[in-house]
Amino acid sequence: MSETQSNYNYKVVRQFAVMAVIWGIVGMSVGVFIAAQLVWPDLTFGIEWLSYGRIRPLHTNAVIFAFGGSALFATSYWCVQRTCHTRLFAGPLAGFTFWGWQLVIVLAAVTLPLGMTQGKEYAELEWPIDLLIAVVWVSYAVVFFGTIAKRTVSHIYVANWFFGGFILAVALLHIVNSCAIPVAAFKSYSCYAGAQDAMIQWWYGHNAVGFFLTAGFLGMMYYFVPKQAGRPVYSYRLSVVHFWALIFTYMWAGPHHLHYTALPDWTQSVGMLFSLILLAPSWGGMINGIMTLQGAWHKLRDDPILKFLITSLSFYGMSTFEGPMMAIKTVNALSHYTDWTVGHVHSGALGWVAMVSIGSIYYLLPKLFGKEEMFSVKLITVHFWVATIGVVLYIASMWIAGVMQGLMWRATNPDGTLTYSFVEAVKGSYPFWTIRFIGGLLFLSGMVIMAYNMFKTMAGGKAVDAPVLAAAGHHA
Ligand code: HEM
Ligand code: HEM
Repeated sequence: MSETQSNYNYKVVRQFAVMAVIWGIVGMSVGVFIAAQLVWPDLTFGIEWLSYGRIRPLHTNAVIFAFGGSALFATSYWCVQRTCHTRLFAGPLAGFTFWGWQLVIVLAAVTLPLGMTQGKEYAELEWPIDLLIAVVWVSYAVVFFGTIAKRTVSHIYVANWFFGGFILAVALLHIVNSCAIPVAAFKSYSCYAGAQDAMIQWWYGHNAVGFFLTAGFLGMMYYFVPKQAGRPVYSYRLSVVHFWALIFTYMWAGPHHLHYTALPDWTQSVGMLFSLILLAPSWGGMINGIMTLQGAWHKLRDDPILKFLITSLSFYGMSTFEGPMMAIKTVNALSHYTDWTVGHVHSGALGWVAMVSIGSIYYLLPKLFGKEEMFSVKLITVHFWVATIGVVLYIASMWIAGVMQGLMWRATNPDGTLTYSFVEAVKGSYPFWTIRFIGGLLFLSGMVIMAYNMFKTMAGGKAVDAPVLAAAGHHA
């Protein structure tokens, strides 16, 4: 073994972990900004690239792909080398995935405000950027699966199954849904038309939730919860059933985004049915994560990292209960187009995705910078409470606003006319949009506290790479 081969590659993990925190602040600032625009519409200042329609996709792309993506790269690269007891495969290629991904993010930040978009939600970026994403993603797959191939332990730990499933599925989704015919440098038309286009877009969209926003983060759960709790996974057998049931079921649920549309009715029913079935693997996974704390519940009391991880699982359980309910056609008839959907999204996005990432990154940072623990553990606790209150304000206000909007839109007078005009529902929503703005601001402040804690930890430590563990023995 050469000198460099005897150490884990922490450099790329460090790069992605630090950028996850920074992109988190950027993406959530844009979120707070658009939340403010809904309360004070003049905040566009008449500038077209600050208009809501252009800045909103900047928010979704920044939080999902820049923040969530960087957190996924960091944690998967850490987990795969540690559990395979080998240095990351193809170091320079791993470095390329970092710089390539950052380039994608910068290009998104420039083109979206300029109004360059394919108009497909979560797949807005134009074709040259899509090509770059494909190249970076294939390189990611080579690095990840190359590391699995050269592992020195025979077993492949379950977290890697989830990370691997996420990498493969996202490659498939991105390549199929991005199929387009370019007509200019930053303009293209989709290969698909009409209802087929919508169907493929929401097959993509829902699996972006299932694989980008869920499977990869379940990988985090299976590695970081047992690590931080100092306990083995509650049931290893359940984790394997969880994996196969989840990836099989997610693929069929997409049409619940297109209830009561031009999509054939039976596809909508299939989507609804599979969404209801999805409750089982989702809750199986959540229970497996939470029950890992069996015998170590007391640690929750004063370990803020564990608080983040376990609270994220509660929000995961909540949003995966709510999702199947919203997939029922008659419930969707009320919830669709309302803020209820936005509340559901953020109970998943802030409560689950952001919180599990934050917990995992707090676990990683001291180890990446040669410290025993973060600069201030107390500040992690402060972050936890600020974030939790922020999420609760965000989602509770959106539930109330959403149900109110749905009920007002459908209310009719005995003579068949509408009881409320649309603008009355908008007026009624203002107080709730203000509460959401405050909740978002709290969550964002938590991220700023995290950045301060991170830079202090970095300043007091130095970049270190740990030696690769011997082949035999337990998972690391
Ligand atoms: C069992 C799991 C889940 C099911 C069955 C489910 C179901 C649904 C349904 C029915 C909608 C509303 C569609 C509409 O009326 O337009 C929706 C929207 C959404 N859900 Fe979920 N959900 C689940 C879990 C999650 C999780 C964990 C997250 C986030 C991490 C999430 C993120 C989203 C997003 C981003 C949207 C909005 C899509 C859009 O219109 O742009 N979902 N989900
Ligand atoms: C400070 C935190 C955040 C704030 C204040 C915020 C705010 C917002 C606002 C105002 C919208 C537009 C809602 C609308 O058009 O009615 C939105 C949409 C969205 N946000 Fe966030 N957000 C935050 C964090 C996040 C995070 C961390 C994620 C993902 C990991 C996320 C994912 C999304 C998604 C997927 C949508 C589109 C929802 C849909 O189309 O139904 N957000 N956000």
